[in-house]
Amino acid sequence: MKFFLDTANIDEIREAAEYGLIDGVTTNPSLVSKEGRSFKEIITEIARIVDGPISAEVVSTDAAGMLAEAYDLAKIHENIVIKIPMIKEGMKALKQLTADGIHTNVTLVFSSNQALVAAKLGATYVSPFVGRFDDISQVGMELVADIAQIFSNYDFETQILVASCRNPLHIREAALLGAHVATMPYSVLEQLLKHPLTDIGLARFLKDWEKVTSAGKA
Ligand code: G3P
Repeated sequence: MKFFLDTANIDEIREAAEYGLIDGVTTNPSLVSKEGRSFKEIITEIARIVDGPISAEVVSTDAAGMLAEAYDLAKIHENIVIKIPMIKEGMKALKQLTADGIHTNVTLVFSSNQALVAAKLGATYVSPFVGRFDDISQVGMELVADIAQIFSNYDFETQILVASCRNPLHIREAALLGAHVATMPYSVLEQLLKHPLTDIGLARFLKDWEKVTSAGKA
């Protein structure tokens, strides 16, 4: 299972990259807007830090505009993945980008039929947004389970990239369902490493070890 970091913040990406756990990065216009820097500059810098897929989202709403943006972004680095919204015009652009051999991530996926359409058009990734479903009292992971079943029924190569992950349970459930990728904020990545019993256990071991050293038996 791949871990992507869902951020446009360079400091977070640098820190997470130190763990060696980051297989890629996803960004979106909202995340980019928090940084107060040029989009292309951010993407270029991320590509220098992370050797893996980097999703950069187009903001046009017509296919021609999306394609123009996509070709421009794809020039930045070979790892750039063009993130396209799941709308009709987006699907026209997707078909062309698939033909061009450019990697794509279809975003804002909220139904299994949307995922099926994107897979048929050759998307590299589909991004179901689980947290936003949970926000409205619908179980987001049910969508991931449906997509996983559909993709395996037909051997689609499109990868399921679970997005809008808000907590460690989302990562656990995505892994149990066999999702290819989970993208998460830095805070969730850190939570994956933590368990209170680990901390308590380590504190006890170190305290006991003090007895060994103070007795000169180390
Ligand atoms: O990048 C898309 C996605 O992960 C957004 O997450 O928390 O804004 O729903 P969120």
